[in-house]
Amino acid sequence: MSKDVYTLTSPEGKTTELPVRNGTMGPRVVDIGKLYREQGVFTYDPGFVSTGSCESEITFIDGDKGLLMYRGYPVEQLAAHSSFIEVAYLLLYSELPSADQLAEFEESIRRHTMLNEGMLRFFNGFRYDAHPMAVLSAVVGSMSAYYHDTMDVNDQRAREVFTHRILAKLPTIAAAAHKLTAGQPYVYPRNDLSYSENLLHMLFAVPAETYEINEVAAQALDLLFILHADHEQNCSTSTVRMAGSSGANPYSAIAAGIAALWGPAHGGANEAVLRMLKEIGTARNIPKYVAKAKDKDDPFRLMGFGHRVYKNFDPRATIIRDMCHKVLAQNGQQDAPLFELALRLEEMALKDEYFIEKNLYPNVDFYSGIIYRALGIPTSMFTVMFAIGRTVGWVAHWREMIRDPNGRISRPRQLYTGSQQRDYMAIEKRG
Ligand code: ACO
Repeated sequence: MSKDVYTLTSPEGKTTELPVRNGTMGPRVVDIGKLYREQGVFTYDPGFVSTGSCESEITFIDGDKGLLMYRGYPVEQLAAHSSFIEVAYLLLYSELPSADQLAEFEESIRRHTMLNEGMLRFFNGFRYDAHPMAVLSAVVGSMSAYYHDTMDVNDQRAREVFTHRILAKLPTIAAAAHKLTAGQPYVYPRNDLSYSENLLHMLFAVPAETYEINEVAAQALDLLFILHADHEQNCSTSTVRMAGSSGANPYSAIAAGIAALWGPAHGGANEAVLRMLKEIGTARNIPKYVAKAKDKDDPFRLMGFGHRVYKNFDPRATIIRDMCHKVLAQNGQQDAPLFELALRLEEMALKDEYFIEKNLYPNVDFYSGIIYRALGIPTSMFTVMFAIGRTVGWVAHWREMIRDPNGRISRPRQLYTGSQQRDYMAIEKRG
């Protein structure tokens, strides 16, 4: 067997040579594209544990080393020195911007923050207690009914306008979803503010008084958005790529991603972590909950723990834990006991044989909810905040997918285990 070829021999002795591809980093990949044609078999890989679905230049993760890089830049460096908008530019256009490019990009995002006024009326159709993720996915999907000029996925200019529009409007839609639940009037965007400052303004300002932007809060949001911006082929991003692979309009593809993000095994975990911490209540109860998480007969899992790719530590969790200290020092002394409880839970779980053996560490969602809560953001909005950060990643992947010369509609196969062929039986003859 040559180094760059995998030779697969069937039980009948038929041999197929499968090319091996090398990326710039990471494990080699066996290209099985011709396997069915040559051997008549499919591969079976539930949850895509060993399957690469595409070629991508955007984000690299080394789960054993706890390494996350956007376009080659370690996320720690971006978190320390960059802004969310600069990181968004990097993800979308492959390079860090010059000062002029950044200013132009920021200006364009600012110019797209308002919603079509008709869309605001759409919000009034939801029940007052609608979950904001339900509102977000529905409203983003409905953008395809308002912005017809950006529906042609083959038009480069339309893709560009869509990109700026969705990044700019996501915070406006998210804040309106919050105001709906809060029973307060929608607040229009202010284009003199930065991306994160404007979001705070739209979430918390009310017409009756002046709202002062809290700079530590804006910094914390910007950091969380940088850390959530992309994570290669995760569940929601793969959903966006899959929906988009049919040529569906980009608003529908992003709405599909938002729906996938909502699940508790994915972005919904940040909300679940807060609920879990409140349920645990005090450090005395931690052993009981750790035991529940280990019990195979109990569906309970430690939310915010474990990751498909990170088997050492999640670098994002470490950065967020540090930001927690800063935010709580200024904004949330009342949340300090919750943070303390989270720290104790992490400490005890990481000493436990079960968690050590299975390489289960706190993930990005473990501490993010504590920051959101200290900023006054309600628990039901946590996954919405994640979606705001992740939208740029979804869009970057969608753009890459559309331009991929090898791109085809995503259409996996299956291992069929249902009935064999049988004949229809008239109802009176059925037992
Ligand atoms: N608590 C207790 N046990 C766990 C946990 C947990 N949080 N996570 C995994 N395990 C155990 C599993 O029971 C399994 O044990 P087994 O081998 O004895 O069957 C083993 O660890 C491997 O777990 P899998 O579920 O097979 O791992 P997978 O890669 O499929 O799932 C996931 C990863 C979904 C993140 C999982 O760890 C989990 O459910 N965590 C809690 C939810 C969560 O925090 N999700 C956010 C992920 S980050 C993100 O999406 C932004």
